[in-house]
Amino acid sequence: MNSSSSPATRNELDPDRIPKHVAIIMDGNGRWAKKRLLNRIHGHEKGAEAVRVVVRTARRLDIAVLTLYAFSTENWQRPKTEVSGLMLLLRRFLDAERPLLMENEIRLNAIGQVDRLPGPVRRKLKAVMADTAGNRKMVLNLALSYGGRTEIVDMVKQIACAVQQRGLDPAAVTPEMVADHLYTAGLPDPDLLIRTSGEMRISNFLLWQIAYSEIFFSPTLWPDFGEAEFVQILKDYQHRERRYGAVAPD
Ligand code: FPP
Repeated sequence: MNSSSSPATRNELDPDRIPKHVAIIMDGNGRWAKKRLLNRIHGHEKGAEAVRVVVRTARRLDIAVLTLYAFSTENWQRPKTEVSGLMLLLRRFLDAERPLLMENEIRLNAIGQVDRLPGPVRRKLKAVMADTAGNRKMVLNLALSYGGRTEIVDMVKQIACAVQQRGLDPAAVTPEMVADHLYTAGLPDPDLLIRTSGEMRISNFLLWQIAYSEIFFSPTLWPDFGEAEFVQILKDYQHRERRYGAVAPD
């Protein structure tokens, strides 16, 4: 991975309209495996390879924040073998990617109920987050044991505590204050949300933060998602007019 764009990629995209924050719901690993009569975990393994490609592409294109929905609160209900397979993949990914995160000045962050992750994964995650804490070129934000409604409930609890114990006036609660109490505090809202595999749902992902995001649904199963399609979606995004509820100027 190097940090300069290939000329072909640069020619296609307007460098002034690169989204600051791209969020991706990586869906379709299981169907990818099923189509090939493989175990679901093989789909996740291929999916982890697609993650590597997309991280490199995002960095090369100067995307400041890339958020990936890697494991939802609902995913704990999957068969034990699938959950442990995913946890192992995550640990392997953290080991393998650490040098590249350092070389490319990418900071690793995690959102979600990270304390629910098995000890070895949690410790590895915290170690790589600490190692990369000073990196400034990009944030790789992994949503792990993440659920948007739980995130909102956690935010409400914190603000309610501030009202009850620190005399916060409920009338003084603002959207900025809400955002500051979400797991994504300090990060910009996603400009672009991509979901693969043809499903057209949000699935409890970044419910507050995607209020004005542009959304792209791709029919591609996540393991087949690659640089060319990512760049194509970014090109389409650059042609969208973002009005945030206002009227476009004449
Ligand atoms: C959805 O596909 C995907 C997941 C639940 C997990 C995403 C995990 C990865 C892409 C690999 C590991 C991640 C990292 C960061 C190394 P699905 O299983 O729901 O697919 P299906 O809808 O076809 O069954």
